[in-house]
Amino acid sequence: MLKSSVLVFLVSLLCFSSAQAQQRTRDAEGHQWWQHAVFYEIYPRSFADNNNDGIGDLPGITSKLAYLRDLGVDAIWITPCYPSPQVDFGYDVSDYDNIDPMYGTLADFDRMERQAKQRGVRIIMDFVMNHTSDQHPWFINSRSSRTAPKRDWYVWRDGRAPGQPPNNWESTFGGSAWQWDSKTRQFYYHFFYVQQPDLNWRNPEVEKAMFDVPRFWFKRGVAGFRLDAVDTLFEDPKLRDNSTLPGTNAFGLPNMVNKYNTKLPELHDVLRQLRQVADQNDAVLIGETWTRDISELQQYYGGHGNELQMPMDFLFTQVNKLSPPEFRKQIAAVDSAGGWPVYVFSNHDIRRAYNRYGDGQHNDQIAKLLAGFYLTLRGTPIMYYGEEIGMQNNDPTRREDVKDPIGRRGWPKEKGRDGERTPMQWNDTANAGFTTGKPWLPVPDSYHTHNVASELKDPNSILNFYRHVLALRHTNLQLREGRYVPLNESDNNVLSYLRSYQGKAVLVVLNMSDSAQKPSFNLAAQGFARPRVSTLLATSAKLLSDSKTVQTELQPFGVFIGEVSTAAK
Ligand code: NOJ
Ligand code: CA
Repeated sequence: MLKSSVLVFLVSLLCFSSAQAQQRTRDAEGHQWWQHAVFYEIYPRSFADNNNDGIGDLPGITSKLAYLRDLGVDAIWITPCYPSPQVDFGYDVSDYDNIDPMYGTLADFDRMERQAKQRGVRIIMDFVMNHTSDQHPWFINSRSSRTAPKRDWYVWRDGRAPGQPPNNWESTFGGSAWQWDSKTRQFYYHFFYVQQPDLNWRNPEVEKAMFDVPRFWFKRGVAGFRLDAVDTLFEDPKLRDNSTLPGTNAFGLPNMVNKYNTKLPELHDVLRQLRQVADQNDAVLIGETWTRDISELQQYYGGHGNELQMPMDFLFTQVNKLSPPEFRKQIAAVDSAGGWPVYVFSNHDIRRAYNRYGDGQHNDQIAKLLAGFYLTLRGTPIMYYGEEIGMQNNDPTRREDVKDPIGRRGWPKEKGRDGERTPMQWNDTANAGFTTGKPWLPVPDSYHTHNVASELKDPNSILNFYRHVLALRHTNLQLREGRYVPLNESDNNVLSYLRSYQGKAVLVVLNMSDSAQKPSFNLAAQGFARPRVSTLLATSAKLLSDSKTVQTELQPFGVFIGEVSTAAK
């Protein structure tokens, strides 16, 4: 009797303190820490090289935490730094519970985590759920014999006829998705490289072993995970053939509709369970979710918001022109999807925004425009390292220089992802101050002008503009909490909106054209019949008037951000 009441007391104490922990991180609007945080993706090979072997490492990241905090970053997502043969530069994990020696040790991780915490920077790890490396002990066991204890941890099948794979599925990295294993005379399935066999998530032992991974890292202080390739966790048990579309891809294969090997409903059960583990740790789950439309995005949020807090919809990464109507359409859709919006312009798989949107003439101004844009929306932005200094893609020009295997296989149509993964440009000394060794990828020439040290000194630099926008985002209540209200919706040149909250608003005006514009705003319908506007931040733009109608003037790609309140009578 006594024992059970002690138990009840302990359980309620636990529930109470976990509820308290949750409450502590919510603001007056019920928002949680990750809704106000600015995330910053670090590709560890390329960020900062502490031991000068030409490859970035965790002590390198630790040495730059002060820079990140000053910039206004609240959380860093580090792409995989686990032990790995590095076929896919870390996305082929051979041990989930350790750090690859090229990046350091677990002690280095702990030091980084401690120092990050002291500075208020959270750490997000990458969780590669769909596949392991073929060098992972699980796969080594699995391929050792048909009766091996871990045989069923991966997807093994007989061919449909001698010498023929089980079906027509293609690897997204080229070739068949099935690899023949001559020892055990079966095929195994790999959505990505041959060296990345897919785990069999239908096996409960796999699920259990994989759920232990986040638990391990939560104990070390991690604040969440970016879930790699979640679309691909499950395959059709009947292995039905996919249909194909006309034409061929960069690898010379038919374009495939991945109906039977991506986005199967079963994956949502896994996400719901994983979310419970995350909630116990006040952690965030960010999904690499290649959603085609809003209804797919909503599925990833989950029926009751019980799956991913931050599915990345990547819609912005598909808009490769500065088109106000296109952006307006996408923001409206994401903003009303029912979950919390996530905005991303580039990452380690996607050409840098500087190149995708730059017009060759106003590139730096356009880089500032993008900052003024996605850092002022309602939602959480995920920055990509180097974006804040205007780093550009450095695409290889010769096949023999390419490091990313898909670039070698798909050349010249597919040049791979080396271009967006080049070393961070810290200063204008040799190798941009990234390393004194030979950098694993060449540093683009732009480092002479676009680097942290020079830009910190230049009040008009891209970096200083980012710093100002980020500071505003952190301090301005309307930018933190405000509703997104689109303005002048038929303007094809200027994208503008309010972030409105508690009787005040922030007005954001972005000239997405290469000609000067003079947009004006009647804000009576938004509750500002007698508006008073004060400039918060402007580049190549100014306020002309705020008597009744608000008038602004913007030079090509100019940005105006102002505070709107009601003028006294
Ligand atoms: C998505 C990652 O972002 C990419 O870099 C990787 O190659 C694939 N997943 C496979 O893990
Ligand atoms: Ca190194």
